[in-house]
Amino acid sequence: MVKAALLTVEEPASLEFAESLATELDVNLYVLTRKIFPDGESYIRLPGEVLGKDVVVLVYSMVPPQDKSIFEILLSVDALKSKSIDKVVLVAPYIAYSRQDREFLENEGVSIRTLLRTLRLIGVDSLYTIEIHKRESLRYFGEEAYSLSPYRFMAERLKLPNETLVLAPDLGAVERAKEFAQAINASYDYLVKKRDPITGDITLEPKRVSVEGREVVIVDDIISTGGTIAKAAQMLLDQGAKSIRVVAAHALMVGNALEKIKNAGVSRVYAANTLPKIESGLIEYIDVAPIVADALRNTLLYP
Ligand code: R5P
Repeated sequence: MVKAALLTVEEPASLEFAESLATELDVNLYVLTRKIFPDGESYIRLPGEVLGKDVVVLVYSMVPPQDKSIFEILLSVDALKSKSIDKVVLVAPYIAYSRQDREFLENEGVSIRTLLRTLRLIGVDSLYTIEIHKRESLRYFGEEAYSLSPYRFMAERLKLPNETLVLAPDLGAVERAKEFAQAINASYDYLVKKRDPITGDITLEPKRVSVEGREVVIVDDIISTGGTIAKAAQMLLDQGAKSIRVVAAHALMVGNALEKIKNAGVSRVYAANTLPKIESGLIEYIDVAPIVADALRNTLLYP
């Protein structure tokens, strides 16, 4: 029998996710000691209980400030490896830097490549996340990297009516909308950006389906500044949509993103619990840790 321990850090999003995981798997949860020195540098100390285990599953989301979270993950993994833990599994519900996944302009850094290669080099043996921006990026980590999609799970929890029209903000996200829609037997489509040849104004329109009188759900992976969702919501309401709700895997909500989304007419945002929660009547969080628990059970780490 493999001796495994579940470990996390006292950061609200990671701790809450790990607590849910511990409940699902019916295992103990251990918490790292974490301090910040007066100059801002991080310090971590492993709890004695994880020493001597074969496998340690570390739950640590890359919450803002992302660089600090990432460094603390590296510090923790390196400490575990130096104590001869055979296998370190990182559960990072949110993986930062995933949108810079190629050179958009010549000679740019490819952030997700740097991040995933570094995690592998420091000793992460296996990586689990919720919906990385592009699944192909996981090749930079190598084998045993898993991006778990939350949309079917979220759709099953939300039980929205099947007359709902599910929309992706662009073609690249259409698989997300499809997965959500299929779980509730609803139709789906994606938005296409159109530019008026005379005025130059941009509009976003569904490719095939009219939104007139429809209750719309926009499904995306990340809400950052809220610009994409606000623009889409305004346009769809102008085109006659009855209501707009939003489903997202990662609600970063930078600055006044939530206000922007609210002002655009969105009635509800449903987000997975991969990042720190924002207190607001507009946003509701769905605990997706059971998806990770299932995946860990399937690896036979936990019976
Ligand atoms: C883009 O490719 C992503 O899937 C999101 O649509 C984007 O990151 C959203 O960003 P923002 O909220 O700043 O518009």
